[in-house]
Amino acid sequence: MATLSSSSVTSRSYRGSGYSASFSPFNGNRHQSLSFLSQGLNSHELCVRFQRKSGRSSVFMQDGAIVTDSNPKESKSSLKGLKDDVLSVLSQETAKVAVESDGHNQSTVSITVVGASGDLAKKKIFPALFALYYEGCLPEHFTIYGYSRSKMTDAELRTMVSKTLTCRIDKRANCDEKIEEFLKRCFYHSGQYDSQEHFTALDKKLKEHEAGRISNRLFYLSIPPNIFVDAVKCASTSASSVKGWTRVIVEKPFGRDSETSAALTKSLKQYLDEDQIFRIDHYLGKELVENLSVLRFSNLIFEPLWSRQYIQNVQLIFSEDFGTEGRGGYFDNYGIIRDIMQNHLLQILALFAMETPVSLDAEDIRNEKVKVLRSMRPIRVEDVVIGQYKSHSNGGVTYPGYTDDKTVPKDSLTPTFAAAALFIDNARWDGVPFLMKAGKALHTKRAEIRVQFRHVPGNLYNRNTGSDFDKATNELVIRVQPDEAIYLKINNKVPGLGMRLDRSNLNLLYSARYSKEIPDAYERLLLDAIEGERRLFIRSDELDAAWALFTPLLKEIEEKKRIPEYYPYGSRGPVGAHYLAAKHKVQWGDVSLDQ
Ligand code: BG6
Repeated sequence: MATLSSSSVTSRSYRGSGYSASFSPFNGNRHQSLSFLSQGLNSHELCVRFQRKSGRSSVFMQDGAIVTDSNPKESKSSLKGLKDDVLSVLSQETAKVAVESDGHNQSTVSITVVGASGDLAKKKIFPALFALYYEGCLPEHFTIYGYSRSKMTDAELRTMVSKTLTCRIDKRANCDEKIEEFLKRCFYHSGQYDSQEHFTALDKKLKEHEAGRISNRLFYLSIPPNIFVDAVKCASTSASSVKGWTRVIVEKPFGRDSETSAALTKSLKQYLDEDQIFRIDHYLGKELVENLSVLRFSNLIFEPLWSRQYIQNVQLIFSEDFGTEGRGGYFDNYGIIRDIMQNHLLQILALFAMETPVSLDAEDIRNEKVKVLRSMRPIRVEDVVIGQYKSHSNGGVTYPGYTDDKTVPKDSLTPTFAAAALFIDNARWDGVPFLMKAGKALHTKRAEIRVQFRHVPGNLYNRNTGSDFDKATNELVIRVQPDEAIYLKINNKVPGLGMRLDRSNLNLLYSARYSKEIPDAYERLLLDAIEGERRLFIRSDELDAAWALFTPLLKEIEEKKRIPEYYPYGSRGPVGAHYLAAKHKVQWGDVSLDQ
């Protein structure tokens, strides 16, 4: 049986007869993983996944085989117990640990950015990979490949990447040296997205870099959705890892509605298992969104209030102060409901409203999210307002309207703004409006969650707050961006001899409290994908539930050719959004004077 030979907060190593093993750092609720090189198991690295479900704790191999399955009540209840089980099973299989000093026995990760010359790759993916490298989060052996159709040399890719390698690390020590080191690990391969031959050539190059090590491969598809399946087919049949894992990160849009999304999932699953597909919603990687569960489940004061009993309404607000500049072609086919509401805002809603999960394991959290999505009432078209921005001149500058974009048809009715009232028909949230608002070309850029609490019953201080509806209501604001903050609006006595109340904030402004810069969402998500942590990625049944909610609404808006309400570029959006809120006895929190 294994004995714990050393331990620290973040890593542990174990020794047993004939082998030793290190557990990867335990990052809060990340899975821990074990890496063994096992002669008895064809020298494959074993990636082990822990899962607790229905009172049982299971450990899976990478191929899904169960290593051990224990009932905590009967035997071991702790993770440590579970690890001991695994170690003992694996030692019986003559598992032999990779010798850390022998490079040949270490594993390597090859990250291929498919669509490397695109905007997302340049602005987000390469900078996030560099930040991870700088922070020492990438494995010792890694290679990054850019793959796209353009002809480019390695040197040209490096020049391209270096131009946009601006990120939070910029001002840190040795940044230039680190950039140089990082770029040496970046290579380029030009190829068509549907060419087996070109992916086979990539495979050959990857193998050269992997130099016989156990190779894990991550493909990031930063390409238009109509070529997802071709690229996945080629990557999986011609360039997937033989001796390690192969994972694919896909960016939305995952279809346009229930039907197309299901068809996409079905096609992807011809080549990949669900476990290999990492559907990214980058809002889930944002610091404050990730903090939602911490706030709720680790503070006694919030969870008891988290229901219809105390919460009058919840608002999920997204706004951008620029239009679809340069992205009109893509956007016109999707519109703001598909671009922001059906994914980013709905994901936040699900995390906000879900029941307490059994544990922080990915499957437990995603199970709860699916449940809440399935409890949602179909969205009524009369509970939705849509808008489109029009040209506006201000201070001698003329801002273009949506249809002024050359890639957008002149008669386009695609909404660039939408507001909607959603309801969750379960015991916790019955009757509580969840208001969503998302828009482009508005007066400000922000994303926030606002929780407005009910009025104090029989408030003794009504006289002192006058009839101002706002003043008596507590509001919790979780500002996702910019200037990350959590603040609670309370009523407070103005100091002095009189009894006058005003509204003040209990304020947690991140920049004042924490000196550490906040990582970009893509950093967290890329790291999770490398580590096989699925908590922040969308499972296919979650995706189905999200589409089931929005598809009938989208059909109705599009089939009936509903005309959007036009709003000037840079304004607060259509006035209809205020009527919608008022209909549900709500005032948008972001329009009050003391936001
Ligand atoms: C993307 C949308 O998913 O999110 C864009 O397609 C939007 O339209 C973007 O601009 C916003 O992301 P962020 O992280 O800048 O708020």
